[in-house]
Amino acid sequence: MQAVGAWALKPLADLTPAEFHDWQTLVEERTGLVFSERRRVLLQASLTARMREVGVEDYGSYYRQVTSGVRGAVEWSALMDRLTVQETRFFRHLPSFQCLHDHLVEACRARRPVSLWSVGCSTGEEAYSMAICASQALSHAGMDEAGYGVTATDISLSALSRARAGVFAEHRLVQLPAELRERHLLRQPDGHYRIAPEIAERVCFARLNVLELAGAPISGMDVIFCQNLLIYFRRWRRRDILNRLAERLAPGGLLVVGVGEVSGWRHPDLVPVANDEVLAFMRKSV
Ligand SMILES: C[S@@+](CC[C@H](N)C(=O)[O-])C[C@H]1O[C@@H](n2cnc3c(N)ncnc32)[C@H](O)[C@@H]1O
Repeated sequence: MQAVGAWALKPLADLTPAEFHDWQTLVEERTGLVFSERRRVLLQASLTARMREVGVEDYGSYYRQVTSGVRGAVEWSALMDRLTVQETRFFRHLPSFQCLHDHLVEACRARRPVSLWSVGCSTGEEAYSMAICASQALSHAGMDEAGYGVTATDISLSALSRARAGVFAEHRLVQLPAELRERHLLRQPDGHYRIAPEIAERVCFARLNVLELAGAPISGMDVIFCQNLLIYFRRWRRRDILNRLAERLAPGGLLVVGVGEVSGWRHPDLVPVANDEVLAFMRKSV
């Protein structure tokens, strides 16, 4: 048997055109993520990194492994953690959060709990930012600061587990105003920050593939954030997903998408928010 150290150092062959095609097709069918020729190197690097970890030497064997049975499903999930771009930050796009705050202050008038959803939440920064924003808006409206809940979903199990842990390095908090950081995060002895319990307990993380929205028991949302996810999908799929998200909004609910992630999309029940800095839509009230 070959020593693991020697195997780990051995360079793996490039994907052949046929192998590239097979992997492209499999990944897109299962996740929607498009690996065009431009992202070929990334696909190959992600595959080889994972193949080294599990000790598989050729793409064909690994393909058979991830497409067979329950063990294949588990391995697929580990591969997903490598294939997805998980970059994120607290309050990543400030105008979108300002729009969220304004919307929530209005929505609070209904005096009922507010439901929010972060779609493609990665390691949780977006979901916790939404929670902090909701807590602020409710407080401004003189209401119970805990009168909201955030559902946060992603395809990557490792991202979700980091999100649930709720501990972040200081550099990830740069856009979080110091006052909010002091109020909603707890500095740890090692210099990291932990989300305060009253925020953490309002956020629920769950695995959900956006291609499987039809079976997801989520509806009546007051706010849906879907940012920096659709850019990896084909145009027709972006529209398809947005149509499905639109159906999950409560009357008067707000859908916030990443600026430039979709162009020309309209939905009969939604009206675009008149704000050049954000790409957001509101569901008609009746
Ligand atoms: C770049 S991050 C965006 C995080 C956050 N929304 C933000 O804007 O900062 C994209 C996330 O989408 C997730 N993702 C990719 N494909 C997905 C799919 N088919 N279903 C659900 N999540 C997916 C990835 O795992 C990753 O965490």
